[in-house]
Amino acid sequence: MGHVCLTPREKSLSMRIAVVGSGYVGLVTGSCFADIGHDVVIVDNDEERLAGLRSGAIPIHERFLPELLARQLGQRIRLSSDLQAAARECDAVFIAVGTPATDSGEADMSYVESVAREIAGALDSYKVVVEKSTVPVYTSQWIRTVMIRNGGRPASFDIASNPEFLREGTAVSDFLYPDRIVVGVENERCAAVLREIYEPLTSGEYYSRADAIPRPDRAQVPPRLIITSTRSAEMIKHASNAFLAMKISFINAVASICESVGANVQQVCEGIGSDSRIGSRFLNPGIGYGGSCFPKDLMAFRAVAKECGYDFRLLDEVIRINEDQRHRFLRKVRSVLWTLRGKRLGVLGLAFKGGTDDIRESPAILLVQELLREGCHISAHDPAAMDRAREVLKSSVVYAAGPYEAAAGADALLILTEWEEFAALDLDRLRKLVKYPIVIDGRNLYDPAIMSAHGFSYYSVGRPATLPEDVTAEIQPDKRQIS
Ligand SMILES: NC(=O)c1ccc[n+]([C@@H]2O[C@H](COP(=O)([O-])OP(=O)(O)OC[C@H]3O[C@@H](n4cnc5c(N)ncnc54)[C@H](O)[C@@H]3O)[C@@H](O)[C@H]2O)c1
Repeated sequence: MGHVCLTPREKSLSMRIAVVGSGYVGLVTGSCFADIGHDVVIVDNDEERLAGLRSGAIPIHERFLPELLARQLGQRIRLSSDLQAAARECDAVFIAVGTPATDSGEADMSYVESVAREIAGALDSYKVVVEKSTVPVYTSQWIRTVMIRNGGRPASFDIASNPEFLREGTAVSDFLYPDRIVVGVENERCAAVLREIYEPLTSGEYYSRADAIPRPDRAQVPPRLIITSTRSAEMIKHASNAFLAMKISFINAVASICESVGANVQQVCEGIGSDSRIGSRFLNPGIGYGGSCFPKDLMAFRAVAKECGYDFRLLDEVIRINEDQRHRFLRKVRSVLWTLRGKRLGVLGLAFKGGTDDIRESPAILLVQELLREGCHISAHDPAAMDRAREVLKSSVVYAAGPYEAAAGADALLILTEWEEFAALDLDRLRKLVKYPIVIDGRNLYDPAIMSAHGFSYYSVGRPATLPEDVTAEIQPDKRQIS
């Protein structure tokens, strides 16, 4: 490698990186690598997307991404649709294309395979090909095989696995202030390249810069670099997502029992989450997880387990509880409103979680579709996901300009995504706008006592329903009925 004689700072400046895919992961990865000092080419085969980016249109809603792109586009970041040319001029090629689920639940690896085929024709010097996409175990071996079949000389490249743990909504901060960086490699030469790429973070140098992206409260710097085998790194990503999904389903199951026995899941979470062995994060009951990762990654992990002879039934149950959670919420809406046909519902939130415009596998969208099937009229608002939602829901709902507009005249207001904006709404104003002061909260955004003090009948997940003091007509749903 030609970088070993350079100082750490010079080394970090000298890395040339291609990132293939300009989606949530590719665009964030490329922008962050540029911001820590590397020269980056972001490659996509979607010319329209690239043209949009060139003209300043940022295709995803992600905090700090506009700042990074404004800083680095045309400086340390170039955009290209020519993968082979980009691979030729780079030391490392990060694959960040999609790995969606097939009908049978396995990961569709055809995008990764096509990238591997193309890179094989561009190996005029030693390169490290890095899996950034979430992929099943053995993928690094398959990439190697495909590259050799397509003319790549085995000595001219190595494959590394560098799973990405960023969360949409906080993707840039997560990337730059990770809990850990996992690098799966098979030899020291390859490990050295990855170490060098992450050196501005692992040395702490990036964090001392005046223009560094602000450090999140919880972040520990510098992050730890964990070097493993490629198979272990592949397993770490699938197992992490499966564990987090399990935590969500676990607390959702506990919330259901809380509803039946009249306990308050928020208090239960505080009690169990303060055990340092358990931790309080991801103990948020709601309408279930969604998004482009957990649902497909769980199915892919289950398929991997099955393939190697292990029946991972725990994952079946995690998935079942998650789906049931949506149905339970729907039953709750029915039990509060009695009949649904013709009811006018205000819906706050369409994205699969707060802070993002991503609606892939969004439980909010699935619930809206179910409510439409039941004959409800829906007026919805989401701070970022309206355009994407329009592509799916077409004209079946009214797209309200803001949360208050969505609530105006509503028989009930449903909270389906945990946007901070929604948590800060003016409750007196809201109360005057709705037809009936009923809020059914799938994200536990509000304090039940405050809601009842503002005159709302308030139903949330795993906490007792609260009614305003002066209301006697409201029927308290039978706890056993809604559970
Ligand atoms: N979104 C997340 O929060 C997240 C987090 C961690 C890991 N991941 C994983 O990262 C991977 C990418 O996810 P994403 O959400 O960024 O996907 P995405 O769908 O947003 O983006 C994928 C991009 O790859 C491009 N692409 C596809 N084939 C290509 C090719 N042959 N050449 C060049 N570009 C190509 C597409 O045009 C698209 O822009 C997935 O495996 C996902 O599971 C996602």
